[in-house]
Amino acid sequence: MEGLGITVTEHLLIHQKQIPMATGKFTRLMGELIFAAKIISREVNKAGLVDILGLTGEINVQGEQVRKLDEFANHVLIHRMKQSGQLCAMASEENADIIEVPDNMPKGKYLLIFDPLDGSSNIDVNVNIGTIFSIHKKTSDRTYVTVDDFLRYGSEQVAAGYFLYGPSTMLIFTTGSGVDGFTLDPSIGEFLLSHPDIKMPESGNIYSINESYTCYWDDTTRNMVNYFKSPDNHLGKPYGARYIGSLVADFHRNLFYGGIFMYPADTRDPAKPRGKLRLLCEAAPLAFVAEQAGGAATDGSKRILDIKAEELHQRVPLFIGSKNDVARATNLMNGGDGSL
Ligand code: AHG
Ligand code: MN
Ligand code: MN
Repeated sequence: MEGLGITVTEHLLIHQKQIPMATGKFTRLMGELIFAAKIISREVNKAGLVDILGLTGEINVQGEQVRKLDEFANHVLIHRMKQSGQLCAMASEENADIIEVPDNMPKGKYLLIFDPLDGSSNIDVNVNIGTIFSIHKKTSDRTYVTVDDFLRYGSEQVAAGYFLYGPSTMLIFTTGSGVDGFTLDPSIGEFLLSHPDIKMPESGNIYSINESYTCYWDDTTRNMVNYFKSPDNHLGKPYGARYIGSLVADFHRNLFYGGIFMYPADTRDPAKPRGKLRLLCEAAPLAFVAEQAGGAATDGSKRILDIKAEELHQRVPLFIGSKNDVARATNLMNGGDGSL
């Protein structure tokens, strides 16, 4: 009933109390992240009314054009999170190098990796976009931070999730014991628990992929995608196609409806097939959420969470979603017939 929801802060505090050694630092870190996301959400809601649409004229480390909202979101996250006192360093999709917390600021043991605004191509047209985050604990004893501190397995994440700026703003996250969803009530400025213990359907009937790149995939990938489109698949009818072009929004829909999101490797250079999506700031955090909701995520041969990053901006092929759909895709890409 309206007014009786529990806030994300209350939710975090309840969980903090259940962990005997908890210090409250993670809760404070999340509090600061949520505050930054509220600022981004407010600006996204005003887009079109204030001068925040369009390009900055710069090209980022990924070789992509930077939009004003990309830059705004990145700036808000870096500057707010630097002051949280809980981080030693950050890594952003938009920055070539890691961002250290300066020595004159209080530091903590956590590392934050983020995609400040995911779905850049949709920013200027009022279509869902999001912020994806991944939190690790620094494991080295060094007093300073290097890029090596970020080159970890996804399975080592302490927490991960995303903010979705859609018709309503939502926060979906996991700390490794299930997935909870919160919706921002703009009238009180609080995220309220709206979707406790989210479970992804084990099988779905939606496939999400940018199919115009069929020409760049290898044959097994093409056959696999054809399977989902075939009336002779296990459903006996083609899957429905849904592709927004914002990973976070495509993932979010499939989290609730079931199905599979795919971004296969581009094999134009057969010696170096490459995915588009970034392991540390996109694939790994969403893989953690997917698995915690009962789903799965793979690069086609390896569980995403079992990949150790070798570079800060490493890209991977990604197949993520309902457990059975990801299993069928994996089976087909490895020469099977799609049966489980
Ligand atoms: P970003 O906006 O953070 O650069 O990410 C864009 C990504 C992802 O959100 C989406 O799934 C994908 O790019 C879309 O790529 P295509 O336009 O190649 O389909
Ligand atoms: Mn992105
Ligand atoms: Mn981005």
